[in-house]
Amino acid sequence: MLSSEDNELLTRVGPDTSMGNLMRRFWVPILLGDEIGEPDSQPLRVKLLGEYFVAFRDTQGRLGLLDARCPHRGADLSFGLNEEGGLRCAQCAWKFDIEGNILDLPMEPEDSPLWKQGAATAFSIREFGGLVWAYVGPQDDVPDLPEFEWTRVRAEQRYLSRFAVECNYMQGVEGGLDAARVNALRQALAGEPLGLGDDEPAHTVEATATDYGLIVGTALDADGKAPLDVQVTHWLMPFYTTAPADEKDILEGVAWVPIDDESTMAFAVTYNPKRRLTQKLLADIRRGKRIHPQLAEGSVRRKRNKDNGYAPDGKPGYASFESRFASTFELAVACQETMGTIVDRSQETLGANDAAVESARKVLMTAAVDLMEGTVPVIVHHGEAYRVRSYAATVEQGTRFDQDEGVRAGIAAEV
Ligand code: FES
Repeated sequence: MLSSEDNELLTRVGPDTSMGNLMRRFWVPILLGDEIGEPDSQPLRVKLLGEYFVAFRDTQGRLGLLDARCPHRGADLSFGLNEEGGLRCAQCAWKFDIEGNILDLPMEPEDSPLWKQGAATAFSIREFGGLVWAYVGPQDDVPDLPEFEWTRVRAEQRYLSRFAVECNYMQGVEGGLDAARVNALRQALAGEPLGLGDDEPAHTVEATATDYGLIVGTALDADGKAPLDVQVTHWLMPFYTTAPADEKDILEGVAWVPIDDESTMAFAVTYNPKRRLTQKLLADIRRGKRIHPQLAEGSVRRKRNKDNGYAPDGKPGYASFESRFASTFELAVACQETMGTIVDRSQETLGANDAAVESARKVLMTAAVDLMEGTVPVIVHHGEAYRVRSYAATVEQGTRFDQDEGVRAGIAAEV
């Protein structure tokens, strides 16, 4: 349970909010790599942390990211024409390069002070690991890119997607940390019956703070037997969760990127660190069986969404779970949305197995408050700390899972 004030601190991400300032200290995925197009192609409007930006690739193939508000009179630059080395505003044709410098000022005198004063606000943008990333924080202190294992494998070894989630980012993060869902997902990945009934095995959860966020151990069938089966997953600052490891070298994770306070863009990745993805796995992904929900045509909105009651056939409430949702993940996202766009955490009742959820909140809020006092999180300049993976371990009773040598070796990324 959180006070209403802490819930505000945790969830508000717009300009000049404490959590928004923290998020702005990290590189953030904004688009899939193939969405931004060829040189001089259509600029793209992106909403991130409650603000609009425009991303484009200039004539030389360089990426640019500008504040979407034209510095002249505020027209949206994503309506502009991307041509001959810059972006020309659709309103009165001022033209800017990727650094925001003015290239053309039609109808203004050649000695106009506007040539110096009228620059657009530019931000850092990169292509990395199959995604386009933005850094919209202080441009004189650019952080490291997070060196996730999936960013370092060949393109044919990973599958990336993005989809809108109609609630605050933290509900996505907390869904990714929820022990019951993690266990159900593990069962689904193992091809076992979905564990939503009486046969759900008992489990206990421990979460330990790390330099990147949290390492989370979910001990299955925790009835005192030795050794324990432990699913080791991670939460990585500020909004990344990892799914439990499966037995076929397939690993998965999600970035829950805040669009604004009440909506999120999820970037999901499935990858194999050793070899290319199989046709069978890709077919499962296309059918929505993993963590990549099927989308409405030409949209980032999920086919099963709030408006149709999560039943695109128009029969919400009557279909079985298996016929209604393609995966436990899709069900989990629906659960997150039905809590409301910003869940009131002052009304919740947490249990012992919500340890990871509580810890992640605490780490984020502490980092946001520390930043207010001038302390930038150390992790932003340690991209190598993101080289961890989920791992299914057996741990002797009495041994802390995060101190176990097998676990420490198993969570280290190989790539
Ligand atoms: S509003 Fe952009 S050039 Fe006038």
